[in-house]
Amino acid sequence: MEEMRASKQYGGALPFLLGFLVVAVAGWVLFPDILFVDKEQPFRFSHVAHVEGQGMLCEDCHYFREDGSFAGFPTNEECAMCHDIGDPQELVDALAEVTGSPDNIEDVLKQEEGPEALDYLILSAEPEDIQAERAFIVKYLAQGKEVPWYNYQFQPDNVFFSHKAHADLTMAQVAALEGGHGEAEAAEADAEDGTNCNLCHLEDIHLRSDTPPFQENVMTGYSKMTMKMWQCERCHAQMHQSNACYVCHK
Ligand code: HEC
Ligand code: HEC
Ligand code: HEC
Ligand code: HEC
Ligand code: HEC
Repeated sequence: MEEMRASKQYGGALPFLLGFLVVAVAGWVLFPDILFVDKEQPFRFSHVAHVEGQGMLCEDCHYFREDGSFAGFPTNEECAMCHDIGDPQELVDALAEVTGSPDNIEDVLKQEEGPEALDYLILSAEPEDIQAERAFIVKYLAQGKEVPWYNYQFQPDNVFFSHKAHADLTMAQVAALEGGHGEAEAAEADAEDGTNCNLCHLEDIHLRSDTPPFQENVMTGYSKMTMKMWQCERCHAQMHQSNACYVCHK
């Protein structure tokens, strides 16, 4: 009797344990990939073309308003200094002539190149750049719509974050807190362009000539890049800042 019960118990527990292990391992390895879907930015934007190519400063597009609030993404107004389409209605009419109707002007984007009505506005020379610029002009500038950029560092509504409060942090300062790792490199990074965006953002996004996809967590809608609470709190603790809940949750 005793023996039978023992083997019966094993018979029940072993497959369960094995099954549990298989699922746990599969979950560990596979789930993180299934959890995220890639969403493409509205069109490709190159920081290199604008910062290096045009000699623009970060502050030309990402600046603090007079009240200290952060402007975030640039609006069409900042772009129109150079991407000047003149009277949008005239452009829409000219494009509508090509496609037959103002409702179809996005069909222009399916054509391989041109049309002439647009050519004279294009500043880029390379085919990929021209495509991106056409998309920007046709879908947004001509139609008077702001570009709905995905924010890689998007935070839930209940989190309060202020760029102003973090503007004076330097990479070197933070690297030193973390026990000196990469201190020299960080100090160098500071010297080169003086930005600290890499502390929290997609690394070196400002040195890229493309826009990587936004990776959306299908369960929460957050970005894969969203800084986790413990990451904010770790730096706050290291820098002797309060981690009371109300500091970040209003
Ligand atoms: C011509 C305007 C322009 C200039 C100049 C510019 N940016 Fe940007 N920046 C953008 C646009 C548009 C986006 C959104 C698309 C993208 O993510 O690339 C962006 C996105 C970013 C982001 C990512 C925000 C997020 O979603 O997480 C960072 C960080 C950033 N820029 C840093 C910089 C830095 C640093 C500089 C200077 C070296 C700079 N930018 C110069 C237009 C500009
Ligand atoms: C100082 C002038 C200037 C400003 C301001 C400017 N651009 Fe440009 N842009 C250019 C020039 C010049 C080119 C062509 C660059 C080349 O081919 O090297 C270009 C190219 C582009 C392209 C195609 C290349 C690429 O993938 O980035 C896009 C898209 C674009 N701009 C979008 C924007 C947006 C969006 C803004 C506003 C946030 C903006 N530009 C602001 C001058 C400007
Ligand atoms: C201490 C962390 C931190 C640093 C440093 C930082 N950011 Fe951010 N940034 C964030 C967070 C968090 C968000 C998301 C805010 C939200 O979703 O409410 C954000 C959002 C943004 C956005 C999206 C639009 C918006 O309206 O907020 C842009 C653009 C941006 N940051 C640019 C920059 C640039 C440029 C730098 C460097 C000069 C920089 N950030 C430095 C944490 C940081
Ligand atoms: C690399 C270090 C660092 C990181 C990462 C960081 N912080 Fe901070 N934070 C600071 C420092 C330092 C201050 C104090 C700045 C001051 O008072 O001059 C601060 C201050 C603040 C304040 C107070 C602002 C005010 O006006 O009183 C808030 C809110 C805040 N952080 C939210 C966040 C959130 C949310 C995150 C994560 C998304 C975050 N921080 C990530 C270093 C950091
Ligand atoms: C330094 C900033 C900071 C402090 C302090 C902080 N949080 Fe958070 N909290 C965040 C950020 C950023 C997120 C979103 C990212 C994440 O979910 O990790 C978050 C998310 C949360 C969430 C999940 C909400 C959601 O919508 O997913 C809860 C619950 C929460 N915090 C509770 C607390 C409590 C309770 C305290 C105090 C003990 C606290 N937090 C202190 C920054 C902070």
